[in-house]
Amino acid sequence: MSRPLLLITTPMPDVVVDGCRDRFEIEQLWTHDDPADLLESRGEEVRAVATTGGFPMDDELMARLPRLEIVANSGVGYDAVDTATANRRGVVVTNTPGVLDEEVADTALALLIMAVRQLSRAERYLRDGQWPEGPFPLSPSSLAGRTVGVLGLGRIGEAIARRVEACGLEVAYHNRRRKDGVPYRYYDSPLAMAREVDTLVVTVPGGAETRHVVDRDVLEALGPDGVLINVARGSVVDEHALIDLLGSGRLLGAGLDVFEDEPHVPEALRRMEHVVLLPHVGSASRPTRAAMAQLVVDNLHAWFDGRPPLTPVPETPVPARDGRRG
Ligand code: NAP
Ligand code: 8YV
Repeated sequence: MSRPLLLITTPMPDVVVDGCRDRFEIEQLWTHDDPADLLESRGEEVRAVATTGGFPMDDELMARLPRLEIVANSGVGYDAVDTATANRRGVVVTNTPGVLDEEVADTALALLIMAVRQLSRAERYLRDGQWPEGPFPLSPSSLAGRTVGVLGLGRIGEAIARRVEACGLEVAYHNRRRKDGVPYRYYDSPLAMAREVDTLVVTVPGGAETRHVVDRDVLEALGPDGVLINVARGSVVDEHALIDLLGSGRLLGAGLDVFEDEPHVPEALRRMEHVVLLPHVGSASRPTRAAMAQLVVDNLHAWFDGRPPLTPVPETPVPARDGRRG
């Protein structure tokens, strides 16, 4: 019996190819000069896709893969996968929850401290040879005494909250539903929370439902000592409003790992000294990316071995496979 064809859309750790080559025939879309050509010649054979956040697994692409059964996304956020289309086509989507929480939370805490104490700017000052000319200016604010609102107290949000608590800061949160058993103050809207905190950490999923949930009003409510940290998705924050408020001193600073139009970051942000900007590296260590890749491999094997996938997303209930697999 021929091996199912696995399409890998984007570069991934070796774990994926190493873990799949015995069980699957593999095509790597990103290695082809003309990806459209590959889709034209082999799209109808593809039964599995391994992909990463940011690559659009949309209606148009899925229409070119009529035998597709599973999309295994390397990333917990799967806003780039059109789950409604997948559901309609009986395609199961999996993600990689849980294995990256601590890494992303570490990144968020680093961004928070760097933004409040302006440490990126201080490092640039040293590297640019300015130290001999005089000491670096004092940072206008401290971490101590801040109240941190977590927008999206899920796996990553809780890992961040634990770190923030360990720094001696007060934590509040907003989710659509209040969470049982957490010691933090709950607010029933992002705006209500923003009015009571000075630091907002964004960890909600991206997508249409959360687009610009952090709007001008929410940002302004943080006040002139306010700091925004975003390790979720750029789409959640109104970037224009953010730039405007940062530029006019109505917000103290920001630490951003994600942007509305990655990998393009507005020049206005890049020019600002009081923001810390990272190129979407929240989970980007070799061990964590390998763990994510292994979960991709495990989901693919489970599916083609006739077992339920390990981590399907709720929008695509696992369809019956009878009669679907060759
Ligand atoms: P999670 O465990 O599902 O947590 C998400 C939280 O957001 C839940 O507590 C959920 O609570 C809340 N939420 C969902 N929709 C909401 C809405 N419309 N309004 C308010 N709260 C809402 O997810 P996770 O594993 O922590 O990951 C969170 C996100 O982080 C991912 O989706 C991804 O976009 C991002 N991420 C980024 C990086 C990076 O490299 N920067 C890495 C990993 C993940 P309710 O359901 O009660 O509302
Ligand atoms: C990845 C992420 O960088 O898990 C997520 O949602 O944003 C990151 O861990 C992204 O998926 C690209 O692989």
